[in-house]
Amino acid sequence: MKKIKLFDPIITAKEEQAVIKTLKSKFWASGSGSGNVLEFEKKFNKYTEAKRTISVNSGTAALHLALSLVNVKNKEVILPSLSFVSTANAIIYNGGIPKFVDVDPTTLCLDPLKVSKAINKNTKVILPVHFGGLPAKLDEFVKLCKKNNLKLIEDAAHAVGSTFKNKKIGSHGFAVCFSFHPVKNLAMPTGGAITLNEKDVKKYEELLKSRRWCGITNRKGVKYDVNELGWNYYMNEFSAAIGIEQLKKLDKLNKKRKNIAKRYFEEIKLSGKMPLNQDSSYHLYWIRVPKRDSFMQKMNENNIETGIHYLPIHKMKLFNSKQKLPITEKICSEIVSIPIHPNLSESDISRIINSVNKYA
Ligand SMILES: Cc1ncc(COP(=O)(O)O)c(C=O)c1O
Repeated sequence: MKKIKLFDPIITAKEEQAVIKTLKSKFWASGSGSGNVLEFEKKFNKYTEAKRTISVNSGTAALHLALSLVNVKNKEVILPSLSFVSTANAIIYNGGIPKFVDVDPTTLCLDPLKVSKAINKNTKVILPVHFGGLPAKLDEFVKLCKKNNLKLIEDAAHAVGSTFKNKKIGSHGFAVCFSFHPVKNLAMPTGGAITLNEKDVKKYEELLKSRRWCGITNRKGVKYDVNELGWNYYMNEFSAAIGIEQLKKLDKLNKKRKNIAKRYFEEIKLSGKMPLNQDSSYHLYWIRVPKRDSFMQKMNENNIETGIHYLPIHKMKLFNSKQKLPITEKICSEIVSIPIHPNLSESDISRIINSVNKYA
C-alpha cells in the first residue's frame, strides 16, 4: 500500500529551473538583500498587503528579530504553550519572560479573555500563534494592545495565505513572523519573513536589515559601519528563487487544502476536530484522539504518517513552568495531525478518512 506522507512540498519544473538558473549565476547569497531575495520580498509584501517585508533565513530568526524591535528584557510576553518551541525560545533570546496563557478549545488559538486577565504592568507583547493556519482573534488582541499600550507580534508560521476580516495575515499586527520551512504552505529549503505594519516603518525596516546581516549599517560601496550586534540571518538566493515560484501557486494550493479540510470536517466522525473556516490556510488538520498512541501506531501500520503538533512548551525542562493550563494540557495529550497537503489524491483522502473513523 502506498505510503501517505504527513507533509509533502509541491515542486514542478518551475522550481527546478529557478534553482538551476541561480546555481549557474554563481550569485548564491548576499547579506545586502539584493537579487532574488529583494524580488521575493517585494512580491510577498504585495501579496500580504503589509507596509514592509524583510526576509530572513527561518521563522525562528523572524521571531527573534521581530521581538528585538521591542525591548522585552525582563518584560512578559504572552504566548500559547501549544506551539513550536521557537515561539518561546525567541522571547528568551531577547531576555524576556514567556507568560503562557491557555487556548480556546475550539480553535486552539490564544483565548482573548484569558489573555486580558494575564496582562499586568510588566506585560509588553501579545504573541498569538495562528494555529494550523486558523487565525487567532486579532481584533480582540488589537483592542487589548491599544488599551494596555502593548505590541502585537504574530507567529504566522502556519498562516501564509490565511485571512482575517478579509485581509491577509501579515497586514494586521505591529510585526508578523512567517516560516518557509520545507513543510510549510510556502516551502523553501529554509526561510522566513517579518512583515511590518506600523505607520513609521522606515526605522524598524532599517533595524531589521542591519540585524539580519551581522549589524552592518551605512554601507557606502565597500565601506560600512556596525552600530550594534546583529546576526547572520539573511535569506539565500536559492530559497528566494524557490519562494518566488511557490508564491505564484500559493492561493491555488491553499484552496486544495481547504477542500480537503471540508471533507475531513464533514466525514470524520469525531467531535474533537479542527473547525471549518474559510480564513484558514490549513497548514495542519488536527483531530483529538484519547487513545493516541495506539491510534498513531495503527495509522503507521496502514502506511499513513501522522504527527503531534505539539507537546506543551511550558512542560519542557528548559521552561519548567508551574503554570496550570488545563485546556492546553488535555489537548496536548490527545492531538494528532493527519496529512493535509495538495499532493493528496481523492482516494488518499478517502483512505485517511476511513482509517481515522476505523481506528480513532
Ligand atoms: C508555530 C511555529 N513557530 C515558529 C516556527 C519556526 O520556524 P522555522 O522552522 O522556519 O525556524 C515554526 C516552524 O516549525 C512553527 O511551526
